[in-house]
Amino acid sequence: MAGLRNLFGNLRRSRTESEDFLLDAENTPHYVAVIMDGNGRWAQRRHMPAIAGHREGAKALKRTIKAARQAGIRELTVYAFSTENWQRPEQEVDDLMKMFGELIDREVPELAEKDVRVRFIGRRQDLSEKLLGKMEWAEKLSAANSTMSLYIAFNYGGRSEIIDAARAAAGNGLAAGEDVDFSKYLYAPEMHDPELLIRTSGEQRVSNFLLWQCAYCELYFSEKLWPDFGEQDLLEALAEFGRRQRRFGAR
Ligand code: IPE
Ligand code: IPE
Ligand code: MG
Repeated sequence: MAGLRNLFGNLRRSRTESEDFLLDAENTPHYVAVIMDGNGRWAQRRHMPAIAGHREGAKALKRTIKAARQAGIRELTVYAFSTENWQRPEQEVDDLMKMFGELIDREVPELAEKDVRVRFIGRRQDLSEKLLGKMEWAEKLSAANSTMSLYIAFNYGGRSEIIDAARAAAGNGLAAGEDVDFSKYLYAPEMHDPELLIRTSGEQRVSNFLLWQCAYCELYFSEKLWPDFGEQDLLEALAEFGRRQRRFGAR
């Protein structure tokens, strides 16, 4: 029973007591995740190739990072490429990989200057050396920053993460029945569980995102396609979160 309680204790590690103390009165979430969906439809409606939607989506991400930082969000976790997205047409995957590399080069110095820490979560072994090099460079450049952490889920799958973590835990010789803080084996052990998960484009599903971490997060669905998402939309989602009553299974 103690082991179970310890395991479920993780669900509530979203805030420590001292962090609670820092909370503002309006109940703004500190840890927010976003499934940035709808780039393809945005492009399709304009008879443009998918990459045009992804490029516009990158602008929406830039706006959202800025707005999130201003709103006092401490950790923003965004879904950029899933382990399932490799199934897309080769041209789209190639264009996306190229775009990510360019975005890192172009945007990370400015983010680092704004005291944003950049971290990538996902399976790294399937990515090109060139892209990996850029990702590592971005993480190193921004490692000491603390105003906001931006977690970019890239070649990320919630199931892969749990399997990788279970392997790492087993490799550490953890015996059955032993107390385990499973979260320390996740891709970013220091990341807090998101309090709010936003998905755009009207789809209401999780699509293999943060399966472990979102055990108790509040879900918010926006009808807007990701390239059309702006600061006001983020603020609306945050306001809605403020109206939710979270119980974590208790009274
Ligand atoms: C999300 O937009 C971005 C990625 C998955 C990389 P989509 O490309 O999935 O957009 P829709 O769902 O086709 O409109
Ligand atoms: C989830 O969106 C992945 C990202 C936003 C990166 P998808 O468009 O891949 O998800 P499904 O296929 O609609 O479930
Ligand atoms: Mg989609």
